Amino acid sequence: MRQLKANPTAAAVAAVAAFFCCFLAIAEGGKLETFSGSYGPFDETHYQIFEVEKPATITNGALQVTPDSASADFNLYNNSGRVLHRRRFKLWEEEGAAGGGARLASFSTSFLINIYRPTNATPGEGLAFVIAPDLNLPANSSGQFLGLTNASSDGNPANQVVAVELDTARQGGDPDDNHVGIDVNSIRSIRTESLTPHNITLAPMGARFYNVWVDYDFATLTMNVFIAEQPLKTGPTPRKPDSPILSAPNLNLMNHVNQYSYFGFAASTGHNTQLNCVLRWNLTVTSFSEGGNGKWLKIGLGAGIPGGLLLLIVAVGLVRYYNKRRIEKTYPRLKERIITLSDTPQEFHYSALKKATNSFDEKNKLGQGGYGVVYKGVLAKDNSEIAVKCFSRESVQGQDDFLAELTIINRLRHKHLVKLLGWCHKNGKLLLVYEYMPNGSLDKHLFAGPKADPLGWALRYKIISGVASALQYLHNEYEQKVVHRDLKASNIMLDSNFNARLGDFGLARALDNEKTSYVEAEGVLGTMGYIAPECFHTGKATQQSDVYAFAAVLLEIVCGQRPGAKIAGFNLLVDWVWSLHRDGRLLEAVDQRLGDAYVAEEAYRLLLLGLACSHPIASERPKTQAIVQIIAGTVVGPIVPPFKPSFVWPASRPLGLDSDSVEETTTMTSSQFGSQYLSRESYTSDGNSLV
Ligand SMILES: *[C@@H]1O[C@H](CO)[C@@H](O)[C@H](O)[C@H]1NC(C)=O
Ligand SMILES: *[C@@H]1O[C@H](CO)[C@@H](O)[C@H](O)[C@H]1NC(C)=O
Ligand SMILES: *[C@@H]1O[C@H](CO)[C@@H](O)[C@H](O)[C@H]1NC(C)=O
Repeated sequence: MRQLKANPTAAAVAAVAAFFCCFLAIAEGGKLETFSGSYGPFDETHYQIFEVEKPATITNGALQVTPDSASADFNLYNNSGRVLHRRRFKLWEEEGAAGGGARLASFSTSFLINIYRPTNATPGEGLAFVIAPDLNLPANSSGQFLGLTNASSDGNPANQVVAVELDTARQGGDPDDNHVGIDVNSIRSIRTESLTPHNITLAPMGARFYNVWVDYDFATLTMNVFIAEQPLKTGPTPRKPDSPILSAPNLNLMNHVNQYSYFGFAASTGHNTQLNCVLRWNLTVTSFSEGGNGKWLKIGLGAGIPGGLLLLIVAVGLVRYYNKRRIEKTYPRLKERIITLSDTPQEFHYSALKKATNSFDEKNKLGQGGYGVVYKGVLAKDNSEIAVKCFSRESVQGQDDFLAELTIINRLRHKHLVKLLGWCHKNGKLLLVYEYMPNGSLDKHLFAGPKADPLGWALRYKIISGVASALQYLHNEYEQKVVHRDLKASNIMLDSNFNARLGDFGLARALDNEKTSYVEAEGVLGTMGYIAPECFHTGKATQQSDVYAFAAVLLEIVCGQRPGAKIAGFNLLVDWVWSLHRDGRLLEAVDQRLGDAYVAEEAYRLLLLGLACSHPIASERPKTQAIVQIIAGTVVGPIVPPFKPSFVWPASRPLGLDSDSVEETTTMTSSQFGSQYLSRESYTSDGNSLV
């Protein structure tokens, strides 16, 4: 302390050092997050999730890692292919600055395969589960190379490839033509096990299905492989065997795979051929969030102590540079990925958007949120108004959010959803373009202040009905279930006719058909008062939690109060409304500013519906289908107990496993889409939804 006082340079150095410590604590991020995906049967929609390297295809419900039928482009022989999940995982971190040791991710995966050979022919060559540094298929990787390496690259540590091969042809070093092996940068496996003694024949006569599990545990640095036959293609998954069929201890993936890697499958055929089909795939990875990389910052700190402020400037520059590079590396083929989206959205030139928004002038700002800023713009070419959502560049998750939003919105078609016009990507800057909504967001109208005219009852009813219909579409009518996850008044946009349009799918995630919830890696998101109580326990957004948020919006619209409003000693709007219901004074909840200008019967119906949808127990909340009917007045409203039931955890029925809602799913064909949802006159939307 005394020394510091005596020496201003030391003080400055200490200040800079302290700054860096703070910075490191942030930059070190490296939070663990768990990703879980369950896929299959496979169809066209999976082209968006997987990189399918030709001639691999997705047909007949399966990933055909090599082609399943000959065509003009390829024959069945001498092929290799890859199908990889497009999500990139950060699999390890070097020693943290805080002195923490190197850290490694864990994963477990299981997949159902069918390796099929032509009758009486010799099969070849094999199928592999692969961890790869990029989404590319090596050239000339057919035959013995299994789509993993080729004659010049085999054995090169720069490959950064680790795989579990299921090999049906014997090459030098292989035990036989029916074995499993663990490969590190080479098709010469580090460990193998013949499957014949285990009564497993990878490519038998006729179809046979095997379920394969591959687990990697960072604590033991062990990779384990298990295989069990599944008698029926669509039958239940067999029990995972107690002991692995093959095990690689002391396999430190940090020494072999790229820090950022992809998971998927590779396969090949040679002079002999076979079909390499993956019918189901589950993947769970616990990896690091893509925060800063502590390492070079630490070096910067060590070298920079004498450098003081100069270092700081250099470091800031480095961070910028590093971030930019990281973003470019994150999705090397963003454009290609977007182009594979069915119905490719229009690409806008950055210059056109810059011009439209007057260089993103502050005056054109419509709103701001955790994901970026939204600007109003006018396109020079036709004077049409647009809303431009700019994803914040420093936001680590930026590109993921961007693609998640783009993928979902691009495929959703409904008159009560925002309409996406296009996208733009420039120097790591990501932008989405929406139709502009002249009436802005709902909350602006609900809480316009005492001087403004209150939103009329008929409009309120129409807005609630629109939101319900959009939610019903997302939950039940769209081919892939979608949870919105962030339903709130500020995300409900109003078009020129005051029709509700659900916006901000920044948080929406498509659910695989078989899953009914989306596991939050980042914990509970959303906005207070709109979050269902179970979410604090599960951290999962479900259709039921969307219904809860819908109830919050409904009460907000009817009562003209925010869901988190403290009224008459209650902490939440819903609790106050429930108390009025108990006292038989429910209609007193209706927005005072309306006076008598509302329809009592309708208000009563809506308020009861709002309470029913706020049920603390998720499985007791009405489904969106019923909600739509109740609002339309075609079925009677729910019976609501006079006292708010208590929240019980765990709930009596498993959350999110509601078979009713699964059965209600209707798969829309594109022609149904056309007639029902593409009615032009009501097709407006916007993007100024981040408030
Ligand atoms: C994938 O996970 C689901 C849900 O846990 C399970 O029912 C299914 O059997 C798994 N599939 C495979 C191929 O392991
Ligand atoms: C092996 O693959 C790499 C990467 O695709 C390629 O650059 C190289 O030319 C290939 N080698 C041979 C012999 O084809
Ligand atoms: C393989 O099958 C044979 C005949 O069905 C049986 O006798 C043997 O125990 C089986 N071996 C294993 C390892 O399951």
